[in-house]
Amino acid sequence: MPPSLLERSDLTVLLVGSGGREHAFATRLVESPRLDTLLVAPGNAGTAGIATNVSIDADDVDALVAYSVESGVDFVVVGPEVPLAAGLVDRLDSAGVLAFGPTAAAARIESSKRFAKELMQEHGVPTASMMSFTDFETASEYVMAQETPIVVKVDGLLAGKGVVVASDHEEAVRALREWLGQGGSGVLVEEFMAGQEISVFAFVDGERVSSMIAACDYKPVGDGNVGPNTGGMGSYSPPVSAVWNPEMDSRIRREIMEPVVAALASKGSPFRGILYAGLMITVDGPKVVEFNSRLGDPEAQVVLPRLKSDLLGVLICVAQGDVSAASLEWDDQSHVAVVLASEGYPGKYATGFPIDGLDEMPPGVTVYHAGTRLEDGAVLTDGGRVLAVSAPGGTLQEARLRAYDGAARIRFSDSFYRGDIALVR
Ligand code: AMP
Ligand code: GLY
Repeated sequence: MPPSLLERSDLTVLLVGSGGREHAFATRLVESPRLDTLLVAPGNAGTAGIATNVSIDADDVDALVAYSVESGVDFVVVGPEVPLAAGLVDRLDSAGVLAFGPTAAAARIESSKRFAKELMQEHGVPTASMMSFTDFETASEYVMAQETPIVVKVDGLLAGKGVVVASDHEEAVRALREWLGQGGSGVLVEEFMAGQEISVFAFVDGERVSSMIAACDYKPVGDGNVGPNTGGMGSYSPPVSAVWNPEMDSRIRREIMEPVVAALASKGSPFRGILYAGLMITVDGPKVVEFNSRLGDPEAQVVLPRLKSDLLGVLICVAQGDVSAASLEWDDQSHVAVVLASEGYPGKYATGFPIDGLDEMPPGVTVYHAGTRLEDGAVLTDGGRVLAVSAPGGTLQEARLRAYDGAARIRFSDSFYRGDIALVR
C-alpha cells in the first residue's frame, strides 16, 4: 500500500483562489514539512513570491479538475465559495483527487440563504425571522408594515454585497426595487438583529466540530461603519472577552454549530471543510446572521497566523473525515489586519498602479496580497481589495498600532483604508 498522504513529505498541493485569504493559506502551507510543491490557481503577486501560480480561474471547474489529474496533484485546497458551490470538490472526488472543502450540496449552507434559513428553522437554531419575495408590490407592502431598521438580501452569492441594512422604509423599498425590478431570483426580508457581530470558524469532518476560533470583521466601507457593505475592510482576532469567552464558545457550539452539522449530515450532505458562522451576539444570546462554507476574508489573515499546528496536516485530516486526528492548537496572541483598497471600491475603481513600500514592514508585520499582479517584476494593483497588513501583539492595541504602522508605509495611487479597525472601546 502507498503511504498515506499524512506520512508523506513530497506532496504537490493545488490551492484554488486569488484573494488575501489564499495568500494567508499559502503562507502557512509552504511551512509544512509535508509539502514539496505548492501551486496556486490563479493566485496573485503575493502567492507568486512563495509558490507557483497557474493561470486557471478559480471558478473554471473543468480546467481545475483536468489540471489536477494531469499534473499529479495529491491534494486540492479550495479557498473561495464560488467553486465550492459549483461542485469542484465533488468533481475532484469523482476524479480520485482528495480535496479540502464541502461538496456543492453541503455548500448550500452558504450558496442558498433560503436553504440555510429553512435548515435553521427546522432545527431551532437561533436566527432572525425572515420572509421571501419575488414580487415587488407584495414585498414593499410587507416592508412598509414592519419596524425599521430592516434587512433586505438577495438570495445568492454576492460576496457580501447583496445586503442592505435599511434604516428607514424608503431605503428598504429602494433595495427591493433594484433587486426585484430586474427579474432577479428573489429577495429575503429579515428582522434586524442588534448586537456585536463575530465570525466563528470550525473545522468540520462531516460529523465532528473542532475547537473553534473567532474574529471580528468590518463590512462597511467607511470609518464608523458607514457606507455600503464590502467583502471586509479589516479584522481582528480574538474578539473581546465580553462577546467571546469559554461560556459563549460552548453555547455557540451546542446551540448553533453542532445542530447545523448534524442537520446537514442527516440530509445526506455532510459538511467537510471550514464552517463559518456569522453571528450577532444579541442581548438574547448568539443568533446566526449567515453561514459560509469556507474561511472568511479578511478573517483568514488574522486567524491562520494563530494556528500553531501544521495547516496542511489539519486540512488532510478533515478532508479524510477525521478531524480528531488533527492536533489543533491556537496561539492566544491578538492579531489585527487592515485592508488597503482602491478608491471607489466596492463600486468601480481603477487598477494597474505600482505599489511601493512592501519591503518596508516593521518586524512581525505581514502583508497579504489580494488584488495584485506582477508585471515586468513590478507589483501592480489589480482589484478592489488590494492588500491586508496583519500584525500580532501581546494586546489588541499593540497589534493594532503595528498593523497601522505597516499600512502607513505602503503607497499606491487611489489607496484608502479604514482608520478604526480594532478600535475597541
Ligand atoms: P450577509 O451577507 O448576510 O452576511 O450580510 C452582510 C452584513 O449585513 C452582515 O455581516 C451584517 O453586518 C449585516 N446583516 C445581515 N443581516 C442582518 C440582520 N438580520 N440584522 C442585522 N444585521 C444584519
Ligand atoms: N469577511 C466576510 C466573508 O469572508 O464573507
